[in-house]
Amino acid sequence: MTALANQRVAYLNGQILPESEVRVSFRDRGYKYGDAVFDMTRTFGHKVFKLQEHIDRFYRSLRYVRIDPGMSPKEMIQKSEEVLERNMHLLDKHDDYWLGQRVSRGVDNVMGEQPIQTGPTVVIECTPLPLKARANFYRAGLDVVVPSTRRVAPSMLSPRAKTHNYLNMIIGEQEAKATNPNSWAVLLDENGNLAEGIGSNIFIVRDGVVFTPSERYVLPGVSRQTAMDMAKDLGIKLVEGDIDLFDAYVADEAFITSTSFCICPVRSINGNPMAEHAIPGPVTKKLMDAYVKFVNYDWVQQYLRHA
Ligand SMILES: Cc1ncc(COP(=O)(O)O)c(C=O)c1O
Repeated sequence: MTALANQRVAYLNGQILPESEVRVSFRDRGYKYGDAVFDMTRTFGHKVFKLQEHIDRFYRSLRYVRIDPGMSPKEMIQKSEEVLERNMHLLDKHDDYWLGQRVSRGVDNVMGEQPIQTGPTVVIECTPLPLKARANFYRAGLDVVVPSTRRVAPSMLSPRAKTHNYLNMIIGEQEAKATNPNSWAVLLDENGNLAEGIGSNIFIVRDGVVFTPSERYVLPGVSRQTAMDMAKDLGIKLVEGDIDLFDAYVADEAFITSTSFCICPVRSINGNPMAEHAIPGPVTKKLMDAYVKFVNYDWVQQYLRHA
């Protein structure tokens, strides 16, 4: 197989190119200001998951920041499936991909000079999931640390849009990792209630009831919604609302959700262990089993085989 065939491809502004040839200008507003939005789904056993739901959210983010990607949602899906298909032969049968779309407002061309580029910058790419790096979290559970940095408030920049502005959560993540390098940061919202982490939503369980923060203060995760649907199907009561640190410290169980993690159990919050010591706890386990069944792929074993 030639080196080229051995290289993943990505989409850039109408072309599918080897990744090494996909270049974005330093004058791109996505690079300069974070003036860009993105979305990210994954494959399960090489089959893409809820691409439509992710593209729907992506186009809501685009509308919020008023960027016209120059492509319809249907075209974005078609190109995404093509990029995925063109990269599938490079994926081990036990591995899976993140499949992501990114659109920036484009390049700030220099006045009076030949424009470098006109219109938005559109990228579609595949990235192998970091299964090995996260495998042990499924055995031991995550240690969540709540940093002092708060999640950007809806009145400042809505967390419901998936923008290229992650510095707020990155600062929070650095604070958390300074106390425990293996921790996972979950930031509080402006009111002091649990919000979300970098790339993940949070749930707690108390007396068999599942609680998660209101959508107003977080990115409405596709896996958050999937976990909520699983709870409903299983007849498990679920409450969306404010969860403060008292609620977190007296919880029986907790877990995070994200496209790549699906559901990952939490063993402590700010060093305070969950009341239920089994990892995962009984309610979390029920939801994980339902999620495995729903996607028809054992992603827990996919992680654990790397532990
Ligand atoms: C800030 C934030 N919250 C939550 C999530 C989880 O969303 P999803 O379940 O759609 O992956 C993400 C995903 O990347 C995220 O970036």
